[in-house]
Order: sequence, then structure tokens, then C-alpha cells
Amino acid sequence: MSERRTPSPQTLIFEKGYDPQRSEGAAVPPVFRTSTFIFKKAMDGKRAFELAYGLRPREQGESPALIYTRVNNPNSEILEDRVTAWDGAEAAALFSSGMGAISSTCLTLLRPGDTILFSDPIYGGTEYLFRKLLPEFGIQTVPFPSGADEVALAALAAAHTSTRMIFIESPANPTMELCDMPAARRVADRLSTPERRVLVLIDNTFLGPIFSQPLRHGADVVLYSATKFFGGHSDLVAGLAMGSASIISAVRATRTILGSMSDPDTAWLIHRSLGTLQLRMEKQQANTVRLVELLRTHPKVKRVYYPGLPEMGARQVALWKQQCTGAGSLVSFDVRGGEAEAYRVLDAVRHMRLAVSLGGIETLVEHPWSMTHADMTPEQKLQAGFSQSMIRLSVGLEDPADLADDLEQALQKV
Ligand SMILES: Cc1ncc(COP(=O)(O)O)c(C=O)c1O
Repeated sequence: MSERRTPSPQTLIFEKGYDPQRSEGAAVPPVFRTSTFIFKKAMDGKRAFELAYGLRPREQGESPALIYTRVNNPNSEILEDRVTAWDGAEAAALFSSGMGAISSTCLTLLRPGDTILFSDPIYGGTEYLFRKLLPEFGIQTVPFPSGADEVALAALAAAHTSTRMIFIESPANPTMELCDMPAARRVADRLSTPERRVLVLIDNTFLGPIFSQPLRHGADVVLYSATKFFGGHSDLVAGLAMGSASIISAVRATRTILGSMSDPDTAWLIHRSLGTLQLRMEKQQANTVRLVELLRTHPKVKRVYYPGLPEMGARQVALWKQQCTGAGSLVSFDVRGGEAEAYRVLDAVRHMRLAVSLGGIETLVEHPWSMTHADMTPEQKLQAGFSQSMIRLSVGLEDPADLADDLEQALQKV
């Protein structure tokens, strides 16, 4: 008998987690638009609540009854089973937004007195959580430059012995700088004790799950704004956390109490987007490469920021080769000039749309300094490596020749 091949993620996402016979044979899962679920017997309800509140471990092969849609729902459960395919996670938890995933996971894993080291720059909402909210709950938050090497990170960790978590966004938004994930793991391991593991969390929104799988490079939890590539069509807001079954089960309990669960319709829409996720990300990347070539030689462009490019520096190129299998569809560039010149480009685009967010099938263009990163001080932004002349593109699925044409005519306005 021939050996059976292990199915690839692109096949698994069509099969995992759904039994058509439990839904009248429906080929695709229906939307279970219900707030509550009927128990067959009182004992089923009791046992389901015991699991939901972590009062006992799940027994071998036990399939707990559904309770209430803030706790669980077939659509979120099917999705959670499927999205783990690429990252190779044991479990996933779906949230009402990327920020819901990040904040609920941090509140599960941190306690007053703990310190979190976080890569800088970082998405504005995460920045607000770390610089403003968590410190009010007695959690110390300390930034480090995204490109920091192991020696620098180890020195910072040594200076903060209460470090409980290293939180990384890689590539960094909007500078596209990669963080050294294995170095973060080694630093975390050196600080860990048998009773207290120092955790590494990685926001993988920009490249994952197709071009980067941080769990394979030492992360404990990988986080996503599923609003971006997972959803992929700029028509929903959601988030995901993935990791070991034990961490995700604790994160789910927090989600139930904070109420940061998503809804069945959103889960269904993301589920529908999964089949084309790889296809979309690969084609969006191919379109981006075409624009990157144009930008790199354009007289009105001072510098291009894209993972793996030689101008990102030798160490960044080495990290990219080690950690990523692609460069994705986000690219930033500096126009020659400042805000006025950048705004001329932004106001001139015809096919691209002037909007924040990313990862959708339409090309979006924005000004990080005055839009997504408006909350940072000018000093913080300059320190993080970007200025008023920077524009960020999230490249979609339009004909790349039209996108190149659009960019060229917009750059003429500088
Ligand atoms: C890298 C990154 N992480 C997290 C978030 C937050 O996600 P959401 O808007 O779904 O809450 C965003 C949003 O833009 C992001 O770009």
C-alpha cells in the first residue's frame, strides 16, 4: 500500500472541523445565527459549564455541548479549527477585532508587577494599550527598537527582571523592519524559570499566515488582525490568537468574560475567505513586487521599505531569509520632500484608494505620520525610523499595469 501524503494547509482548510452530516448534509456550514443552545439533558449543561469555566479538564474524545454564542458557536469553532492549518498551532481563538485578540491575550497572561518588552514601532492601537492602558493596571511596558539584536535585547531584559513577555510585531508597521524571533525566544528562555515561563507573542498580521509562521521560530502565541488578509475583502473586523491548547483555553475564558468574542456571520465570512487566502496573498505579493521595482528607480522616490530589499541592510536581509518565505503586499516609501509632497501623491491616485487598513483585495494608500501613527509624538516617530515623507501602500488585486500607471501619474505631482 502506498504511503499517504500529509495534506497541505491549502487542502486542510476545506476539510477540518466540519461534519456535513450534523447540518443536514449542507456542503458548506450554514450560519448558526443563534444566541443560545438547547441542552439535551441537564447533565449535558452541567458538564459544558464545567469545561467553560475550567473546573475540570476535557476528557478524551469529549465533545462538549454548545452553551451561548459569547462562549462558543459552531461557526467560530469551525473557523478556529481551520485557521490553525498554516501556523501549525494546537488551537485558535476568534475575536471581535485584532485589538480584542491582543488585549484579551495580554490580560490573560500578564499580572500587576510584570514587565512587557515590546518592539517599536508597533500598530497604533497596540501602542496605546502598552503605553497608556496596561501601565494603569501596574504592568510596566518597555519599548525596544524592532531591529534590535540579541545582545541589546538581552541587556534590556536583564535590566528588567520582572519581564514576563516579549511582544513583537514583525514586520514593523510602517517601517517593514523585521524582528529577530529566535533571538527573542533565546532571551525569553534565559529569563524563564520552571515556575515562570517568559512568553514570546508575535503579531503576524502583515506576512502571516502564508509568508511567516512565528510558532516555528519560538513564539508562544501568534496574533492577527483577521480584518486584514484572513477576511481579505475590507468588509469585516475580527482577530485571532493561536498557540498551545492550554494557553488558548485560558485566553478563551478571558474572552468569554470580556465579551470580545466575534459573531457567527463574521466567522462565516472569514471561513469563506480561507479558500482564497493563499491565492490572494501570493498574487497581491506579485503585484507589489512590480510596484517595488518602479519605486526603487523612480526619481521622485527617496527610499523604499520592503522586507528583504538590500536597502533594508544586510542583517535585515539575513533575518528575512531565515524567518520568511515571502515579502508580502505592504510597502512603504519616502517621496522627495515632506508632508506636502506626500499629500500630492495621496490626492492624485485614481485606482488606489486613500484609506487606512490593509490586506484587502483593493489597493489602499495612506500617510502613516498623520494617519495610522498620529498618536505617537514626532520624536517617537523619528526615533522609530519614519518621517512625514513616508507613504504606505497595501497592494490589492487590480491589474498591476494599471496600478503602476496610477502610481507613476501620482508621483509626477511631486
Ligand atoms: C499589525 C496590526 N495589528 C493589529 C491591528 C488591530 O486590528 P483590528 O483593527 O482588527 O483591531 C492592526 C490594525 O490595523 C494592525 O495593522
